[in-house]
Amino acid sequence: MSVKAVIIDCDPGVDDAVALLLAFASRAEMDVLAVTTVAGNVNAALTARNARLIRQIAGREDVPIYAGAIAPLVRPPVVASHFHGDSGLGWMAISEPAAPAATGHAVDAIIDLIMSRPPGSVSIAVTGPATNLALAMTLQPAIAQRLEQAVIMGGARSEGGNITASAEYNVFADPHAAELVFRSGAPCVVLGLDATHQVRATPPKLDAIRGIGTPAAMAVADLLDFSIAVHRRLVGPEDYPPLHDPCTIAYLLEPSLFQTVPVDLRVELESPLTLGHTAVEFRVKDPGAATVQWAVKANAEGVFDLLLERLAR
Ligand code: RIB
Ligand code: CA
Repeated sequence: MSVKAVIIDCDPGVDDAVALLLAFASRAEMDVLAVTTVAGNVNAALTARNARLIRQIAGREDVPIYAGAIAPLVRPPVVASHFHGDSGLGWMAISEPAAPAATGHAVDAIIDLIMSRPPGSVSIAVTGPATNLALAMTLQPAIAQRLEQAVIMGGARSEGGNITASAEYNVFADPHAAELVFRSGAPCVVLGLDATHQVRATPPKLDAIRGIGTPAAMAVADLLDFSIAVHRRLVGPEDYPPLHDPCTIAYLLEPSLFQTVPVDLRVELESPLTLGHTAVEFRVKDPGAATVQWAVKANAEGVFDLLLERLAR
């Protein structure tokens, strides 16, 4: 299998952090060209700091981190610190990472990395509001056709919403960015709640992760311990946290872990009641021409086996 060149655009965020640790541990299979950060779960300064901290834990200071958009395209920022803690990394001990962020804006880095490499050779995983990618596509429209694929965590159809009754957080936080990206013509694979809710971090899974004992595994276990506690308090005692963002990295590493179907995907931009809702239309006239694939099934055991194997490296 060839090494996949990937930009990871994220808003760490507990599950973003697990996604980063999975990607950083997959050095032989994934060339993380850069991590770009965006305002989302917590503010832009914290998401950039958190990405640097996770990079330090993973020992991957070879990967540049670029800070990006401090607010959505149109909407005011909406944080999700109730699910990620005020720091954005749950109970993790916070210190100022030694290595700084790279100079330059995330949007410019996304454009430069995609335009400087052969067409179809760079993928991007988007695990936060899609503000940076939307801005990059606006500044340099050519990247939509040049991307190998954009693997995006966002949206919901059969699962309903997780920030409002009908909207998933990433799309709700910046619906205009999501709509622009989905309509750009770029090859998009969208992992919404319909798929990520099938991949749950349960206590036995955490025991297996903690038993690995590596620094990355211990960090993941601590991060997910927090998520389990928050989920059981905010959602329900028998509810366990979905591994939303790690699913994007698992898809890039092993696409066969997911089943996707071609769709037409539009985002509600007007209604105060359903803002950010993803209208996922499966009845596409020409499936071969569809640029958006919607994930309908996830192999949860396969995702966890992949995570365990990589954290043990
Ligand atoms: O709805 C889940 C998404 O919102 C995840 O990316 C999580 O990190 C939050 O950003
Ligand atoms: Ca996220």
